[in-house]
Amino acid sequence: MTRSDPPLRLLCIVGARPNFMKIAPLMRVFRARPDRFDARLVHTGQHYDEAMKDAFFRQLHIPEPDIDLGVGSGSHAVQTAEIMRRFEPVLDDLQPDVVLVVGDVNSTIACALVATKKGIAVVHVEAGLRSGDRGMPEEINRVLTDQISDLLFTTEADGATNLMREGIAADRIHFVGNVMIDTLLANRERAIPAEETLGGIAGFAGDPAGFGVLTLHRPSNVDDPVVLRRLLEVLVQLSERLPLVFPIHPRTRGRIADAGLSPVLAASRIALTDPLGYLQLLGLMAKARIVLTDSGGLQEETTALGIPCVTLRENTERPITVEQGTNTIVGTDPAKIKDCFDEVMASGGKSGRVPELWDGQAAERIADTLLAWAGSRAEAA
Ligand code: UD1
Repeated sequence: MTRSDPPLRLLCIVGARPNFMKIAPLMRVFRARPDRFDARLVHTGQHYDEAMKDAFFRQLHIPEPDIDLGVGSGSHAVQTAEIMRRFEPVLDDLQPDVVLVVGDVNSTIACALVATKKGIAVVHVEAGLRSGDRGMPEEINRVLTDQISDLLFTTEADGATNLMREGIAADRIHFVGNVMIDTLLANRERAIPAEETLGGIAGFAGDPAGFGVLTLHRPSNVDDPVVLRRLLEVLVQLSERLPLVFPIHPRTRGRIADAGLSPVLAASRIALTDPLGYLQLLGLMAKARIVLTDSGGLQEETTALGIPCVTLRENTERPITVEQGTNTIVGTDPAKIKDCFDEVMASGGKSGRVPELWDGQAAERIADTLLAWAGSRAEAA
């Protein structure tokens, strides 16, 4: 694009909590260059409450969405369909040049699908991650979104290999680094000190050994009461060695209550708290001795922070966090979880390094690549 061209009209999509830290640096970079980008923000409303949405917009200075589709919760089919139904008239009205989606949630595939069928270019940020596990709803969203994207931005070198194996042309793929780590680096100094957050958590008893952080929300871990009980029981045992802070996702809170598992946690050193804001969780992770999680984002954030991460899943779509970072995949077998925990307690865990291009500049690279790509499309037209 030349300087005299009109700004590129982008419609950026967010829906669920993990999208917010990915969109924050992109909106900042786009809005800092109003002569080159006319960027608007659509929130689908997949996540909607104070703890799951508003706290993130405030803390990360994400501009208020231009449009809120207000879809709320539902089954996968209902949620995806409702986003598509409500997004279509927005696209007809705004006619952007590009729809930009991030990550792998239902909002990502829903908006990408509507856009591509209307002949509007789709740009996918965080493309090419694969767990190889089609039982995971996000894996379906990843594969399908990548297939219909015109421009694909990857966070790790494996991404291009995965995409090319699925027939995606190399010239659509750009390795730019990790926007989630842009957000982490930009906010590290602003993180709320762990002591402050811990002081506000009822039932948290300090220990000279320190503390660990626990998160769990994947359907494969929390939806089956047998799996959930097995996990909670081993985690309770671990908490006897090291108190654990457990910011609890609404899905998990509901499943624990439905399965009658609250008594398992009641007398333990696992301190439950509502979902935390970004700056609170960042402050906690930075000081934790260990993070136990089934989240994708936390696997990357712990690698960037150099904090040991034990992933309570059988696989990961983010293998670089294992190969280069501090992450270990242990699954849900109690014996393996205990062994890995013991190893981290004894040795301090793996010493990793920060992966290539996880340097805080991914959003800038995306902006530059987008402009070059839009320029070459205009020339070809
Ligand atoms: C979604 C994403 C998942 C991501 C996770 C992060 C998909 C397929 N899944 O899963 O990839 O890791 O977000 O949180 O898109 N709820 C609230 N308040 C809210 C939102 C949800 O209480 O603001 C409750 C509702 O009871 C809802 C449940 O949480 O039924 C689950 O929400 P949903 O968006 O369906 O899926 P997540 O498990 O959050």
